[in-house]
Amino acid sequence: MSQLNLMKPTDEKLYKKIDWQMLRRLLGYLRPYRRYIAYALTLAVISSALMPVRPVIFRWAIDDFVVTGNKQGLLGAVMLVFGVLAVSALLQFGLSYLMQWVGQKVLLDIRISVFRHIQQFALKVFDTTPVGRLITRVTNDVEALNELFSSGVVLMISDILLVTWIVGYMFMENWKLALLTILALPLLLTATSIFRKKVRAVYSKIRHEVATMNSFLNEYLTGISTVQLFSLQRAKFNRFDAVNARHRDYQRRSVLYYAVFFPVVEIISALALTVILWYSARNIFSGEMTIGLIVAFAQFVEMFFRPIRDLTEKYNTLQSAMAASERIFALLDDNRRIEDKPNAVEFGGLTDSIEFRNVDFSYDGRKSVLKNVSFTVKKGQTVAIVGATGAGKTSIINLLCRFYEFQGGDILFDGQSIRDFNQDSLRSRIALVLQDVFLFSRSAHENITMGNSQVSEQDVKNAATAIGADDFIERLPEKYNTQIRERGSNLSVGQKQLISFARALAINPDILILDEATSSVDAETEQLIEESIARLLKGRSSIVIAHRLSTVQRADVIIAMHQGEIREIGSHSELLAANGLYAKLYRYQYGISRRTAA
Ligand SMILES: Nc1ncnc2c1ncn2[C@@H]1O[C@H](COP(=O)(O)OP(=O)(O)O)[C@@H](O)[C@H]1O
Ligand SMILES: [Mg+2]
Repeated sequence: MSQLNLMKPTDEKLYKKIDWQMLRRLLGYLRPYRRYIAYALTLAVISSALMPVRPVIFRWAIDDFVVTGNKQGLLGAVMLVFGVLAVSALLQFGLSYLMQWVGQKVLLDIRISVFRHIQQFALKVFDTTPVGRLITRVTNDVEALNELFSSGVVLMISDILLVTWIVGYMFMENWKLALLTILALPLLLTATSIFRKKVRAVYSKIRHEVATMNSFLNEYLTGISTVQLFSLQRAKFNRFDAVNARHRDYQRRSVLYYAVFFPVVEIISALALTVILWYSARNIFSGEMTIGLIVAFAQFVEMFFRPIRDLTEKYNTLQSAMAASERIFALLDDNRRIEDKPNAVEFGGLTDSIEFRNVDFSYDGRKSVLKNVSFTVKKGQTVAIVGATGAGKTSIINLLCRFYEFQGGDILFDGQSIRDFNQDSLRSRIALVLQDVFLFSRSAHENITMGNSQVSEQDVKNAATAIGADDFIERLPEKYNTQIRERGSNLSVGQKQLISFARALAINPDILILDEATSSVDAETEQLIEESIARLLKGRSSIVIAHRLSTVQRADVIIAMHQGEIREIGSHSELLAANGLYAKLYRYQYGISRRTAA
């Protein structure tokens, strides 16, 4: 269920009712700040009680001083009104400052917990969830909670308090007029309820379009070069334009609803006021009512309608917060991650061997990717894996790094199952160099250390020199401190690859894995780094997957794979002699290179 929500979160459901359980969970985030919430609520109670005091003073001032011409008394009353206004302004300031402050703190807490959770997801989750969607969770969805936390909760309570206070005061002043005012309520509630439904529906559509826009932009901008290459700008633009147009139309509709709703509330309140005027005018001559009372009720009516109107808006805030939090909680409840065992042991380094024992693996539980795979890498050995694209070479590496959980057999480090080890300690001993190098927008230095404080400046320099990256890094504008732009766009593919080799070497790993690491550098560069790679591999337990069989030839053991199964294991000469899959691959490549050379 939670998985489903994560996959299709844009089809949000409309909340007809308040989901109390979810609201409780949401409000749980306020718990660390309950002391401040208590302060805020105290302020809310006082400030809402002060509001209806003003009409009462007005009534008193008009009837007792204005009518009798008592200037002294009037001055006193005016001062009192100012005093009340000043105090209530101060309370309002304190209230909104406090709530905004708490709200931002809570948002930060939620955002961090969502981000932390995403980071711990198994890679499997990323295979099936668009990144744009995960970004929407951390940004937009959390933002949708902003209003709820920063003003919603407390203001809603203070609005309810205010309405209660006003009703109380009205009845204290004159119960007949109070009843007349309240008579307008059904009308107001009907208008409110229609408005609420309309706005809720349109807001849900707006959020849907925003999420679509995010996913679209993420994919489009990530693949911008492909888009330009295939001149898809026009087509993609049209698609974006369509999403945008829908978004605009929904926004416009929501504006329309508001533009209608507010005047309607004004009209209802004017209507109520008219009725009160009409009714009291008849009673004023009999002396039952006074001018002061009429003025006071005119203010009461206005005061009474405002919080009810605001509550309607707050209710919408609550609605979108619900929708957003449902998606956030679905993400937080999604526990697809690879957990360490409670008694997981630290991986202290390889002493004997890595063994794959009858490993079966499938990414999706349907299509078998590795079938009964068994092989051993002795400490210090270089094992090469060859095979056609899709044979399952990278999948072996994915399991070795424990990126995915496998279904059958076991992977053993010095005889102990990979599942017994603490993942971090295991991965810290493995260096992985891929064809697709990922560089972060940090300095060259940081891209080599990868935040590992145990890698010294000298280690970085040594590693870069050994791999032949030092030369070009020294020629960068700020040498090792040069900022690498996002995804390394200011470096050539070969330079990026060299940095990734230096990154692998700098931590002096126990186990080194190269997955088509030299496929994207040109033959000349490959020649240049071949020696460094040989040095990198020497005496280090390593697994090498390479297109070019020249790198493979020198390996101690070669594994030839075909469609998820191991076909052959042996040395270069053994496998050539066996004249099987490897020999075929070798001859094929040799044949091609001879033909291109000719
Ligand atoms: N993340 C993934 N999710 C589902 N299937 C995958 C994933 N990665 C690879 N596969 C499938 O697993 C098979 C083996 O892929 P892979 O190990 O990457 O092959 P190789 O590295 O030998 O080219 C392929 O059929 C591929 O389609
Ligand atoms: Mg691969």
